[in-house]
Amino acid sequence: MKVLGIETSCDETGIAIYDSEQGLLAHTLHSQVKLHAEYGGVVPELASRDHIRYLLPLMEKALVEAGINKIDLDGVAYTAGPGLIGALMVGASTARSLAMALNVPAIGVHHMEGHLLAPMLEEPAPGFPFIALLVSGGHTLLAEVQAVGQYKILGESLDDAAGEAFDKTAKLLDLGYPGGPVLAKLAEQGKQGAYEFPRPMTDRPGLDFSFSGLKTFTLNTYQKAVKSSPGDQSLKADIARAFEDAVVDTLRIKCQRAVKQTGIKTLVIAGGVGANLRLRASLKTMMEKQGGELFYPRIEFCTDNGAMIAYVGCLRLMAGQYEPMVINARARWPMEELETI
Ligand code: KG4
Ligand code: ZN
Repeated sequence: MKVLGIETSCDETGIAIYDSEQGLLAHTLHSQVKLHAEYGGVVPELASRDHIRYLLPLMEKALVEAGINKIDLDGVAYTAGPGLIGALMVGASTARSLAMALNVPAIGVHHMEGHLLAPMLEEPAPGFPFIALLVSGGHTLLAEVQAVGQYKILGESLDDAAGEAFDKTAKLLDLGYPGGPVLAKLAEQGKQGAYEFPRPMTDRPGLDFSFSGLKTFTLNTYQKAVKSSPGDQSLKADIARAFEDAVVDTLRIKCQRAVKQTGIKTLVIAGGVGANLRLRASLKTMMEKQGGELFYPRIEFCTDNGAMIAYVGCLRLMAGQYEPMVINARARWPMEELETI
């Protein structure tokens, strides 16, 4: 079965074609980073308009890359939520119209399920059950994944998501947008241990997270440091490093707890913050010490992409799950409502 996947939940237009027999045939992406950079964050209306501009040309490009024609498609999958409602509607209505024109089924995919299962696009893929650390701009959670659609949330962020904390902290340090990659790059030049930052909520049991206090702590530390050593060029890099180390350490401690609590020795990282190299390295070492294994998708499949949507859509369509002819888009969508296949 060949499925075209469409991702338009936020600021990336992603299109991919996944074949149940041959795997991923094509994937294309247009990032809106430049468009939103001057506003310091995503402007929803501009995002929707840009998705409209790029969807059809990217679709043509993906079909050429896959070496197939539209009529060879057996289904269409699109991100139905959670996300920016206008951006979601662009993908949903395009997907639905295409499916109707081709007389094939369409299915709305949960964006976070896409992230969670993105490591399955790699070789070797993780086997079930696994613990997933999903760290993106909108969500931070630990889930026990027993099968496709069987997700038990073990813990989640009570306030800012990890990616959001990176983005907001970068903004406070005047590093620009998108904050995560910029801050991580600057942190490479920072001295480890120059500043000691807290590891929020690690001093009590449980698997929930809280990152909003870290950004205020970062700002206060920065302002104090500037006052005591004005003109010190290494300040920002050292502070960026301390912030990154605090987030990475906190995530590692919680992942280790989840592994111990469940006895499941396979850990998967997914979502945009999963692109963070220090996080990958720290979790890899921790899992090796536990006698377990860490899996993650290639960097481009950590952040938003069409491949994960085409893949999940293909699995669900093959299991016979498709919807009546309605256009589905939900700004909020609890993952535990998903059906098992
Ligand atoms: O999964 P994603 O592309 O979009 C959402 O579903 O939210 O994640 C985007 C988030 C942003 O907050 C971005 O700053 C963060 O992932 N991010 C990173 C890195 N690359 C992207 N955070 C830390 N280090 C990185 N290298
Ligand atoms: Zn995402």
